[in-house]
Amino acid sequence: MSSRITMSTRIVSGTAHPGLAAAVAAMLGTRPVPCDVERFPDGELRPVVDGVQGGDAYVVQPTGPAVDDHLVELLLLLDACRRGGAKTVTAVVPYFGYARQDRRGRAGQAVGARVAVDALASAGADRLIVVEPHTVALEAMAPIPVEMLTAVPILAGALAELTPEAAVLVAPDLGAVKPAEHYARLLRRPVAVVRKTRVSGERVHAEELVGDVAGRPAVIVDDMISTGGTIEAAVRVLLAHGAAPDITVAAAHGPLVAAAWDRLDRLPIRCLLTTDTLPAGETRASSRVRSVGPLIADAIGRLQRGQSLGSLMVRG
Ligand code: R5P
Repeated sequence: MSSRITMSTRIVSGTAHPGLAAAVAAMLGTRPVPCDVERFPDGELRPVVDGVQGGDAYVVQPTGPAVDDHLVELLLLLDACRRGGAKTVTAVVPYFGYARQDRRGRAGQAVGARVAVDALASAGADRLIVVEPHTVALEAMAPIPVEMLTAVPILAGALAELTPEAAVLVAPDLGAVKPAEHYARLLRRPVAVVRKTRVSGERVHAEELVGDVAGRPAVIVDDMISTGGTIEAAVRVLLAHGAAPDITVAAAHGPLVAAAWDRLDRLPIRCLLTTDTLPAGETRASSRVRSVGPLIADAIGRLQRGQSLGSLMVRG
């Protein structure tokens, strides 16, 4: 990267994932700018950001648990950068909380994804970078450009090493079919699809399976694992259809909330592969993590050089 670009790039780290922000900064030949987030006794946050005047500020903050705290902190950091004289302000949100609320599932619901992207733009973001958002509709909702980076090549590269060639890829719901096809192109493996219905935030129901899994190891690919309900339901359907009790799970995001591990520990999961879009939480011997740091650094470098993000982006 040329020194002109390095000099105008300012990485700002929120408190959600300082390790990832520092790694991205190092790959770009810089360090995060000084930033302090004070919390008042009543819970209010007051961030102070220094050194962004005249630069291109990239605020790195996944909005994972505690989602609302991290989102509000991000909004305040964006405002601090704008008021601090940054030439451009980009919100880098490796995990975008609220992306699953991309439409009204029933009358009376809010569309949380729309509210969140609008809030980022109003707070001062000129652009948004996300990794594997749950919905590509994010782009159409947002009043600013949204760069949606794909983690599929990173995870597929790991799966090529970690799983047998005979393994069949499994989309655990209809929403996961397109990414599963992306994995299939890279790994040259067949795809099976589970039909899932969500009963509540923690419970899902899955019965039907399209595709042949009998006697084969399976690799379930999804965008995220939250309560583990989707994975549990998919594994049970796979076993009922004769899949080998040798399951791998790959997901870009692993917030693994609530009793997710209690559920997953009961299943024949040999390998659970995620990325570091969120800080590491509880792990098991089966846990494997690949970093999205190089992907994010590559995207920022290309934007700074005025180059296309091309192959780094999610295929719609
Ligand atoms: C939903 O459509 C998503 O793609 C994931 O399958 C889902 O959010 C995973 O959540 P959980 O682990 O709670 O089932």
